[in-house]
Amino acid sequence: MKKIAVYPGSFDPVTYGHIDIIRRGLTIFDEIVVAVARNSQKKSLFTTDERVELISDVFKGEARVSVDTFSGLLIDYVSSRGAHVIIRGLRAISDFEYEFQIAQMNSCIGREIETLFMMTSLQYGYLSSSIVKEVCSLKGDIDKFVPPEVKSALRLKYGLL
Ligand code: COA
Repeated sequence: MKKIAVYPGSFDPVTYGHIDIIRRGLTIFDEIVVAVARNSQKKSLFTTDERVELISDVFKGEARVSVDTFSGLLIDYVSSRGAHVIIRGLRAISDFEYEFQIAQMNSCIGREIETLFMMTSLQYGYLSSSIVKEVCSLKGDIDKFVPPEVKSALRLKYGLL
């Protein structure tokens, strides 16, 4: 049986921090479904379709990574994909409380689903999509944080191209 994991998030936009988690996840799972939240409470810069397209561009050629969207309860989506594991990245102690709460809630309502936390690699511990957007909007260098296609999309959004 294939080991499939779902990696959910806003991905507004995807960064090297997310990419690092996906690549490391591929050493554990046969397939990873990157699930972009449609109804996130966050106000996003990119539309859902744009976020999906950017992640798909980054992972084109990697057949074990697929990109999808979901709305509603995450655990319902995970079950619908025939997966039993949710991957989440942990960056700092500050992430822990929120992630712990979500994982507990998910395990309460979907007992057969596990959440696997992966520590973010040291060099991405401070990274977030918001911080990358802020640096880009202020014309800072974001080469170390996002792949070239994401950088171009960000610069286009901020009228810098
Ligand atoms: N490296 C760098 N940055 C990372 C990272 C990593 N490995 N992992 C996460 N981040 C950043 C993201 O860029 C994001 O930054 P931002 O806040 O500036 O946008 C932040 O950490 C956290 O975002 P993300 O991982 O995308 O989570 P989220 O809180 O936006 O989304 C969902 C969480 C969508 C998974 C969650 O809300 C959900 O499951 N919703 C569905 C509804 C549901 O089932 N609710 C019940 C749950 S109890």
